[in-house]
Amino acid sequence: MTQHFAAPTAPTTGTPTGWWRDAVIYQVYPRSFADSNGDGMGDLEGVRDRLPYLRDLGVDAVWLSPFYASPQADAGYDVADYRAIDPMFGTLLDADAMIRDAHDLGLRVIVDVVPNHSSDQYAWFKRAIDDGPASPLRDRYHFRPGKGENGELPPNDWESIFGGPAWTRVADGAWYLHLFAPEQPDLNWEHPAVADEFRSILRFWLDMGVDGFRVDVAHGLVKAEGLPDIGGNEQLKLLGNDVMPFFDQDGVHEIYRSWRKILDEYPGERIAVAEAWTPTVERTAHYVRPDELHQAFNFQYLGTHWDAAELRAVIDASLAAMLPVGAPATWVLSNHDVTRHATRFANPPGGTQIRTAGDRELGLRRARAATLLMLALPGSAYVYQGEELGLPDVTDLPDEVRQDPSFFRAAGQDGFRDGCRVPLPWTTDGPSYGFGSGGSWLPQPQSWAGLSVEAQTGDPGSTLELYRSALALRREHPGLGAGDSVDWQPGTPEGVLAFARPGFLCTVNTTAAPVRLPVPGRLLLASTATTVEGDEFELPADSTLWWAV
Ligand code: GLC
Repeated sequence: MTQHFAAPTAPTTGTPTGWWRDAVIYQVYPRSFADSNGDGMGDLEGVRDRLPYLRDLGVDAVWLSPFYASPQADAGYDVADYRAIDPMFGTLLDADAMIRDAHDLGLRVIVDVVPNHSSDQYAWFKRAIDDGPASPLRDRYHFRPGKGENGELPPNDWESIFGGPAWTRVADGAWYLHLFAPEQPDLNWEHPAVADEFRSILRFWLDMGVDGFRVDVAHGLVKAEGLPDIGGNEQLKLLGNDVMPFFDQDGVHEIYRSWRKILDEYPGERIAVAEAWTPTVERTAHYVRPDELHQAFNFQYLGTHWDAAELRAVIDASLAAMLPVGAPATWVLSNHDVTRHATRFANPPGGTQIRTAGDRELGLRRARAATLLMLALPGSAYVYQGEELGLPDVTDLPDEVRQDPSFFRAAGQDGFRDGCRVPLPWTTDGPSYGFGSGGSWLPQPQSWAGLSVEAQTGDPGSTLELYRSALALRREHPGLGAGDSVDWQPGTPEGVLAFARPGFLCTVNTTAAPVRLPVPGRLLLASTATTVEGDEFELPADSTLWWAV
């Protein structure tokens, strides 16, 4: 099904369009999307070539993970120049052409901004090291003397998210803080030059025409006064459950209030979405107060198991948390940091990092059902590249090809993120299945030929066509993404959910057994084929059906 959409509303300061309130935003992970020059690494020209695919898929916007100049210690989340494109991804002219083409196709463009840390190759940090202990540039990071008789112990007990201590000692004996890899020194946001620099970076990209930013580690910028010890030795388990002295400190909100003013100066409703891992949806809502950012990822939803009661609870809590601040809820099932949902749901309930393939057929059936549920909810939804193909995580990558820095820092929580970053299959044959004319930086399983865009296009039972149909229906029924509530239908059997949206009903079965229910209207779309007989229909095991009512 080919859709043609109007270009985004011409930049105007007039009536707000609120385009982002119900937008479906597709995450492109540039190194793994499409490779235009055959070097095995995706690039901006590759993205540009495939924009018509995204337009036809029916998404509203594209968010690109970082493509800036970077030594790639953390796949580009270690930025050495925020205003330059890494040569492996192309040039600023390529970025300009990509943004223009996207706009011509009616797609908006969101780029990543990485303000919590720079690369250790960023000019400031290099000078801070080279100029020695007295360098004023050290104030732009968190340099501290060590503890112990000779300063041989880290300044406090914080652990890196990627495992190991959050401090590294430089040759002259001082220590610096890095919540992630040692190549990602944390910036000191108390320093006015840091705030100024990022305001200027935002303007640079806004002037380039981007429609918004995804703010990396938005919850990390401000650290508790005095960098106090946490105590205990299981810090990674506390993450996400408690407010930590380095995450979700109230001071971060002042930064976003100043960013919002900049966004609002530009025409055309430029937005920002926070990557803020907070303990509760209520704390996430702080990031999207009317004078702060527009959206925040709903990681509580991402972490929810395939379980009707849990899903209903997180949907209710998310909608309730957003209501007082007037921000849209957001929904996300996969991204470049977690095991793809087709694999999470193929395994017994667990966290977001799963290392076994599990029951693939079951995982895909549930993933398709979960997607239809997500796309029927009010608010904005995020789709991670390849989920529209039903891709699983690649759980058997040989260790020698892995590149995720947290894999090498063994104790890290995220060590297996390469599994969701394997380049996309576009065609049924050819080197790297159409990803490029050469190989691919991570090996693709042979079975991916059958999951390629080419293999799935036109097959009405394919996951790709399910996404295309769902996104087309979402456009036809604007009521689907609009609003701020769902109307739960009473009397559904255990494990089954039914909720109404204007003119629409969604029925979800999270159990392993089909159930029979009275026909509520006209069947629009099914994640698993079903039968409607007379007044009753079968809601298959692990399925979602959409109805016009
Ligand atoms: C975010 C990114 C992740 C990266 C980390 C450090 O969580 O999504 O990929 O490793 O920040 O920048």
